[in-house]
Amino acid sequence: MVTVVTHPLVQHKLSVMRDVRTGVKEFRELASEVSLLLAYEAMRDLEVTQEEVTTPITTAEFPMLSGKKLALVAILRAGLIMTDSIVQLVPAAKVGHIGLYRDPETLGPVAYYNKLPTDIAERRVFLTDPMLATGGSASAAIASLKAAGATSIKLMCILAAPEGVAVIERDHPDVEIVVAALDSHLNDHGYIVPGLGDAGDRIYGTK
Ligand code: PRP
Ligand code: URA
Repeated sequence: MVTVVTHPLVQHKLSVMRDVRTGVKEFRELASEVSLLLAYEAMRDLEVTQEEVTTPITTAEFPMLSGKKLALVAILRAGLIMTDSIVQLVPAAKVGHIGLYRDPETLGPVAYYNKLPTDIAERRVFLTDPMLATGGSASAAIASLKAAGATSIKLMCILAAPEGVAVIERDHPDVEIVVAALDSHLNDHGYIVPGLGDAGDRIYGTK
């Protein structure tokens, strides 16, 4: 299942990110802001229970987060900006990292790092990567989360291509995708069209 967050604030910020004239500082700020807004939507179904709270006026029951604890997992390197921002909303969440890069020739994912919370099996996992292109990186990351025992996984991306969505739906039909926009297609180099370019390079200024 794919949820596209069509809120005007998300769409406006994403349009500015797409603009080739947007520099590193603004791109980073916007990526962080869009990530927070995506998290607001992705975490809409977090469990709450009523707990007693004493206000300065009276004592009454109010909703508090309950249920499974959370884990944020970034696909390095571009997913890092998303977890760095979202952890502000859920400061008790544990944070994991999966290092993957896309081989420029084959476009297949190459794994180089994996560090996950040891109790990942007991946590709801929010996996972050700004770009879902061929889907190879996200599919491999989800497979390693499942191999570590994770059973509840949501994938959060800023931009997705239909090709990547189809791969996740085929490989991991249990994983919901939350995305700011679903673009048209991939070009011959595996870049999302119209897209925003190379997310990692634009975040870290490496191009
Ligand atoms: C980018 C992006 C995703 C991947 C998406 O990472 O951040 O991880 O490509 O492509 P896919 O869906 O076709 O696998 P990249 O390989 O450029 O690494 P980086 O984040 O280290 O720059
Ligand atoms: N990775 C990116 O950063 N951008 C794309 O368009 C595709 C993969």
